[in-house]
Amino acid sequence: MRAVLPLLCAAAWLLGAPALSLKKFHFKSWMVQHKKTYSSREYPHRMQTFASNWRKINAHNRRNHTFESTRAPLLHGWGREKHNCSATKSNYLRGRGPYPPSMDWRKKGNFVSPVKNQGACGSCWTFSTTGALESAVAIATGKMLSLAEQQLVDCAKDFNNHGCQGGLPSQAFEYILYNKGIMSEDTYPYQGKDGTCRFQPGKAIAFVKDVANITMNDEQAMVEAVALYNPVSFAFEVTDDFLMYRRGVYSSTSCHNTPDKVNHAVLAVGYGEDKGTPYWIVKNSWGSQWGMNGYFLIERGKNMCGLAACASYPIPLV
Ligand SMILES: *[C@@H]1O[C@H](CO)[C@@H](O)[C@H](O)[C@H]1NC(C)=O
Ligand SMILES: *[C@@H]1O[C@H](CO)[C@@H](O)[C@H](O)[C@H]1NC(C)=O
Ligand SMILES: *[C@@H]1O[C@H](CO)[C@@H](O)[C@H](O)[C@H]1NC(C)=O
Repeated sequence: MRAVLPLLCAAAWLLGAPALSLKKFHFKSWMVQHKKTYSSREYPHRMQTFASNWRKINAHNRRNHTFESTRAPLLHGWGREKHNCSATKSNYLRGRGPYPPSMDWRKKGNFVSPVKNQGACGSCWTFSTTGALESAVAIATGKMLSLAEQQLVDCAKDFNNHGCQGGLPSQAFEYILYNKGIMSEDTYPYQGKDGTCRFQPGKAIAFVKDVANITMNDEQAMVEAVALYNPVSFAFEVTDDFLMYRRGVYSSTSCHNTPDKVNHAVLAVGYGEDKGTPYWIVKNSWGSQWGMNGYFLIERGKNMCGLAACASYPIPLV
């Protein structure tokens, strides 16, 4: 089986202002993941070493994409193996439309939970997952729950997820399905670091009946799913320029659009169009201070940064 990309998941506090360079950003992520701290005297030297290793690893990987056994000691999830976030087969059947020109689940009722903050853990995929399921349950029952990201961080490893080192929403939905449920934020609070699984079946409050995997690169199917059914979890590639996002429709020429490059998972809660530019309305997990009250807009219709590479949403069991 092909290794699936462990999304590293950029974290908000790593971004700072003004935005950090990507090198610094990767270095800080690496420090967090490996629990390193350096004195301010040591730091510049350590970062130089890291940057030089990083360049070598990337250069090596560019030369030899199939060489999987050279595991870069430094980087988890970056430039190491050939990854592919797409489901091997999709099970979403798209209709023909037409679809409404705009949609915003936040305005339809109490269907989108407040923006959360993943902190210094590469757990974006857990927030994308809980956000999608919280909406699914709210749409089906009218009840807004807050679900436990920490359970996914601690317990979903058998489904090819890696806690604070990344994971994928589609695989997390599968975990919740087979695990028979997920607990609440209150009974299994978020800690933002890897821990041992403390799932208690009696305290599960939300359940998954099925997982809809949208066909790779079928962005129109994402539109249909968001228009007709549910907010949709998706992944895309965060590059340097995204770290400077403040407002407006994000569009990039520096990111790629293939399933092997995505590194951040989020939740599409709607879409629209501004002066001829179609966009997605996206809930991030970097707190409500980031972007536009925790949200951003990204250009729609071009598979921007690979956003249509691996989209999915859960069908709740209610
Ligand atoms: C490329 O990978 C193969 C193994 O898959 C290895 O034998 C070969 O030496 C590698 N080449 C380079 C230039 O690293
Ligand atoms: C959906 O995606 C998940 C994770 O990639 C996978 O385990 C599951 O088999 C997929 N389902 C279908 C029906 O393809
Ligand atoms: C990724 O996986 C999908 C589904 O298995 C496949 O169709 C696609 O060609 C793969 N893409 C890459 C770049 O490996």
